[in-house]
Amino acid sequence: MSDKSGSEHATNAKQLIIGHRGAAGEAPENTLASFRLALEQGADAIELDIHETADGELIVCHDHTVDRTTDGSGFIEQLTMEELRRLDAGSWFDERFAGERLPLLADVLALTPPGIMINVEIKCGYSARLSGELQRLLKEYDRLATVVVSSFGHKTLHRLKRDIPELRIGLLYVGGFVHHARLAELSDMEVYSLHPHYLSMDAEDVAQAVSAGLQVYPYTVNDPVHLTRAVEAGFSGIITDYPARLREILQR
Ligand code: G3P
Ligand code: MG
Repeated sequence: MSDKSGSEHATNAKQLIIGHRGAAGEAPENTLASFRLALEQGADAIELDIHETADGELIVCHDHTVDRTTDGSGFIEQLTMEELRRLDAGSWFDERFAGERLPLLADVLALTPPGIMINVEIKCGYSARLSGELQRLLKEYDRLATVVVSSFGHKTLHRLKRDIPELRIGLLYVGGFVHHARLAELSDMEVYSLHPHYLSMDAEDVAQAVSAGLQVYPYTVNDPVHLTRAVEAGFSGIITDYPARLREILQR
């Protein structure tokens, strides 16, 4: 496919509104309240971050510790699910959200309608236990085809793809490469999507990646001017803390 046809494809395709940690601009990130709000605001997809707890559960939280986003403290990998589930993950954001809990990945899978894509970002390292639990959950909720698993840890993704060949892989990265699609080639696995920092790609870069058969989902675009620019650049979807804001721009 030529660059031109790639560009047309990018322009014509529906651009996905991807709610970052739910609707993290308006609700406590990575809580069920935040995911519900993203869905209410018309998100086509949600992004969330997961860690493995001390007892092998997959819990939704951005940081390695619970200090910033709960009333507790400590490293997630050293805490059990029961200890983590007691924490308040809403009050730090606003008292209106008091009592929100750190969700399990299973809770979000149960909440989210099947037509809504889920981008599961892996924040912890690879382990066979993580891989097994992820596979079990994606099968149980029939989500292998509608979840994209991303990470800045490409080796983690490579190992997960080896264990779960059907997995859709998204490469997260920061660099401003000359040819972004080559990153997918170098990763030595089948890649579904690129997840660049939004300032590192222009319309030409997007068209090249799309013509190479990749989806392109930049993170994390919040300012209205930047959102408008990202829409015009033809990204396949845009990760934002403000799904309603992006929806309004797309409707214009
Ligand atoms: O997945 C996109 C984005 O969430 C990556 O960065 O730090 O917000 O998880 P971060
Ligand atoms: Mg993330």
